[in-house]
Amino acid sequence: MGKIDFKPGNMLYPLPAVLVTVRDRAGRDNVFTVAWAGTVCTNPPMLSISVRPERFSYEAIRQTGEFVVNLTTEDMVRAVDYCGVRSGRDQDKFRETGLEKDQAVKVKAASLKASPVNIECRVSQELALGSHHMFLADVVHVTVDERYIDQKGSFHLDQTCPLVYSHGGYFTQGDQLGTFGFSVRRKQASKAGSAVAGKKASGKKTSGKRGSGKRGSGPGAAGWPGRSGKASPGRKTGDRQTGSKKRSGRPSGQWSGKES
Ligand SMILES: Cc1cc2nc3c(=O)[nH]c(=O)nc-3n(C[C@H](O)[C@H](O)[C@H](O)COP(=O)(O)O)c2cc1C
Repeated sequence: MGKIDFKPGNMLYPLPAVLVTVRDRAGRDNVFTVAWAGTVCTNPPMLSISVRPERFSYEAIRQTGEFVVNLTTEDMVRAVDYCGVRSGRDQDKFRETGLEKDQAVKVKAASLKASPVNIECRVSQELALGSHHMFLADVVHVTVDERYIDQKGSFHLDQTCPLVYSHGGYFTQGDQLGTFGFSVRRKQASKAGSAVAGKKASGKKTSGKRGSGKRGSGPGAAGWPGRSGKASPGRKTGDRQTGSKKRSGRPSGQWSGKES
């Protein structure tokens, strides 16, 4: 079987489906679903959302230059869909979905209590691209639900069961197959002399919730397409640590590994 040509279109999936909260100049809150969102810069931290100008929320963002990106979880899937098919022009989506508001810290919009991560943003640029206008924004504040912070101050996003949007469907995140840099990490000394491709060396974690562990166990089990489950070449230096660390006394959601 070969490949067939497809009409050029949006095929960059999976994506997070986020709930964006906005407050207009008159102080009216609204929430709507956005999948065309992305991280665009690490330092300064910046993200983008692309919004059709006909959205009710678009005008609020234009008026205030502020919004909050609220990450979503499996439990929120109905609300995520609902806020993406109903408009705040006609109804109060907070009341209809039961989504509770919190006041954001640095921006005037509300944030969502149910979201494990709230990313407060201030628009720096608007780019009219066509169907959508892209708002480039500075991340000015982040709050995370302390239920997912362990005793060492590391934040475990995976434990929130993030919601994934892919080609028209909502999905769960699936099992962890590795951690940042695992493909080049130095082999861990093993008494049995076993290869690095195993669970331990890759940092692979199977979520207790789903737990089949079957994903990723095909022919390229070590994560190299087209190769059988052989160990990746070891690297002598730079055994990078992954997972977040407490910095300057505050929990950090950032990887301590190299970021792209
Ligand atoms: C999964 C999903 C993703 C969506 N992503 C976007 C998006 O990235 N940009 C956008 O303008 N609209 C997007 N929408 C549509 C808006 O959320 C929808 O039109 C919503 O009703 C707008 O709300 P508002 O009129 O209250 O602003 C999405 C809808 C769904 C269901």
